[in-house]
Amino acid sequence: MALDQKQPNDLSAFWMPFSANRQFKKNPRMFVSADGMFYKTSDGRDVLDGTAGLWCCNAGHKRPKIVEAVQKQVEEMDYAPAFQMGHPKVFELANRLRDMAPEPFNHVFFTNSGSESVETALKIALAYHRAKGDGARTRLIGRERGYHGVNFGGISVGGIVNNRKMFGSLLTGVDHLPHTHLPENAFFKGQPDHGAHLADELERIAALHGPETIAAVIVEPMAGSTGVLLPPKGYLQRLREICTKHGILLIFDEVITGFGRLGSAFGADHFDVMPDLMVCAKGLTNGVIPMGAVLATSEIHDAFMQGPEHMIELFHGYTYSGNPIASAAGLATLETYVEEGLFQRAADLAGYWEDGLHSLRDCPNIIDIRGMGLIGAIELEPIAGEPTRRAFQAFLDCYDKGSLIRTTGDIIALSPPLIIEKDHIDQLFGTLRDVLQKLQ
Ligand SMILES: Cc1ncc(COP(=O)(O)O)c(C=O)c1O
Repeated sequence: MALDQKQPNDLSAFWMPFSANRQFKKNPRMFVSADGMFYKTSDGRDVLDGTAGLWCCNAGHKRPKIVEAVQKQVEEMDYAPAFQMGHPKVFELANRLRDMAPEPFNHVFFTNSGSESVETALKIALAYHRAKGDGARTRLIGRERGYHGVNFGGISVGGIVNNRKMFGSLLTGVDHLPHTHLPENAFFKGQPDHGAHLADELERIAALHGPETIAAVIVEPMAGSTGVLLPPKGYLQRLREICTKHGILLIFDEVITGFGRLGSAFGADHFDVMPDLMVCAKGLTNGVIPMGAVLATSEIHDAFMQGPEHMIELFHGYTYSGNPIASAAGLATLETYVEEGLFQRAADLAGYWEDGLHSLRDCPNIIDIRGMGLIGAIELEPIAGEPTRRAFQAFLDCYDKGSLIRTTGDIIALSPPLIIEKDHIDQLFGTLRDVLQKLQ
């Protein structure tokens, strides 16, 4: 295949991730360029990006500052060893991230994805207790319907059945909180009233295993990939209190909620609950170059800074941790967010977005609508005996009509770039209305 060819002539070699490969290859959907709020397809159509790529292009596409930073960096220095060597941009990016993050997060460990950030945070949590002489704390607690990437630690603490059931016995010593999706909260606007008590399940789990055996609890402050589940009012506060009471670390997986999705820099700011470790990725580089990070408090970081100074303190890291090109992309991305006030923009548009989202309530087959900031979910009644088919058809129909949405099970999830304009919001919900009204 010629490199400039817009259509490959053989689709068989590429095994696509999290995709219906056979369906796709019969009728491929190809993007060939992107600018601002729109993708261009291989057949020349514009498609409105209702999902910020995969919840990651928060500043929209082809942003000049980021493009230029990457181009410049690749010419200046392509790669520098990540272990025992440094380069200025990775230190600068860590500083900027520290400045953007809530107050207690003074230290940053770089990775290349959300999944790697999750593994890193779980390992830091275990090693922290051990470094403090509390090595009996080995248990990890996740939550039903949680998504923490696809590596073994992440699927062990995660709670999405299809992501777990094919892959053996996973990590031992893991338990799960119940999810927070209650029927009485259906169609609620914003944080639901009911369900704070579900955090008390942590007390039950702690009593069952002995709180002194639990290293950490990991949750998404707002669960994204499972279909946008909002934390009930008071829930995260309660989790924080119970963790503090028992000396358990609280990890927020902010891979989706980080970088403005809810109208604040992080979910921790938005819900005003501070975890001990914070996991991020996606919006860190606007999706341009893979990069993730774990933010740690000084208390955690400093616990490792002991022993002879020539010794490595944490036996963990990746060849591409803090890669120069990713660091350049990250710096330009954070600057773009700040210069354009994009987090505030998300907050300002949240009301308009919510009205558009809930305006679909009268469409057929809808059993719930929920959202917050610039995120939203429309849950469809599954077709009996054919789960996921209805929402997948909505995805295909929206694509044909020029809007990119995402589906998970029978839930449509929306998370547009934060540069979205009101007329794009109208276009997106207009397309969805058309599609949902005709959907079988
Ligand atoms: C909360 C959360 N954690 C982790 C991940 C995994 O990130 P990645 O796909 O970059 O490994 C995701 C991806 O959607 C996520 O939403």
